[in-house]
Amino acid sequence: MANAEIGVIGGSGFYSFLEDVTEVQVETPYGQPSDSLFLGEIAGRRVAFLPRHGRGHHLPPHRINYRANLWALRSVGVRQVLAPCAVGGLRPEYGPGTLLVPDQLVDRTKSRPATFYDGVPLPDGSASNVVHISLADPYCPEGRKAALAAARGRGWEPVEDGALVVIEGPRFSTRAESRWHAAMGWSVVGMTGHPEAALARELGLCYTSMTLVTDLDAGAETGEGVSHDEVLKVFAENVDRLRTVLFDAVGELQSSETRDCLCTHALDGLDTGIALP
Ligand code: ADE
Repeated sequence: MANAEIGVIGGSGFYSFLEDVTEVQVETPYGQPSDSLFLGEIAGRRVAFLPRHGRGHHLPPHRINYRANLWALRSVGVRQVLAPCAVGGLRPEYGPGTLLVPDQLVDRTKSRPATFYDGVPLPDGSASNVVHISLADPYCPEGRKAALAAARGRGWEPVEDGALVVIEGPRFSTRAESRWHAAMGWSVVGMTGHPEAALARELGLCYTSMTLVTDLDAGAETGEGVSHDEVLKVFAENVDRLRTVLFDAVGELQSSETRDCLCTHALDGLDTGIALP
């Protein structure tokens, strides 16, 4: 089977990434991923691209099969994931076009299967598993450095940290919710960052979120509130430079064989009960 070392999960408005690709359909014990994987190469590194919402954006955030997506990526050899996504800014200074590489995550989702370690018999009929991983620092420190360096190298000064709060969606926040998120000190709000980051950690993958602000969230402005058209329009305006930064970030990532960040040790000493792909 074709393989790759680095995964890129594209968000709203980001449906293709590589040019010369092999399309691979992957079955997983958790069902269908959002789409095929598209495998290609950047700067001599093997990369698998997966459009998070599917080609044509047919999957809303709460219907994405995050487990199947991460499992599929790992099963073609991916060990490091770069995950761009569209977000709303929670502070006036984080306006549309801001690139923020979060270092923290707040989960406000409600209905999503968020673990591989469910304590029930596994889809393949094998024994149940109860595993608690640490998610104190949800993002790969090395991946974050690579993303920040790549953005700076292209003259796109990134916001270098901040908390991404993930809401259930698909509706946007009320003004009161949005003001509350901002008052908590959180920086940006999105709908897909969880459980993606947690599931990546459960598989021992490095995971780096790169958030592109497409709008000021409802509490940070006084207009009509956010619209999906606005999100897609601003994402489209920025997609070329985001792609360039992602290409450079891929080149900046350490080799998956020698990486030694906290993510690689996430499962040390734990009996996961599942044979990871
Ligand atoms: N994605 C893009 N903008 C968003 C917002 N304001 N809230 C939640 N998710 C978003």
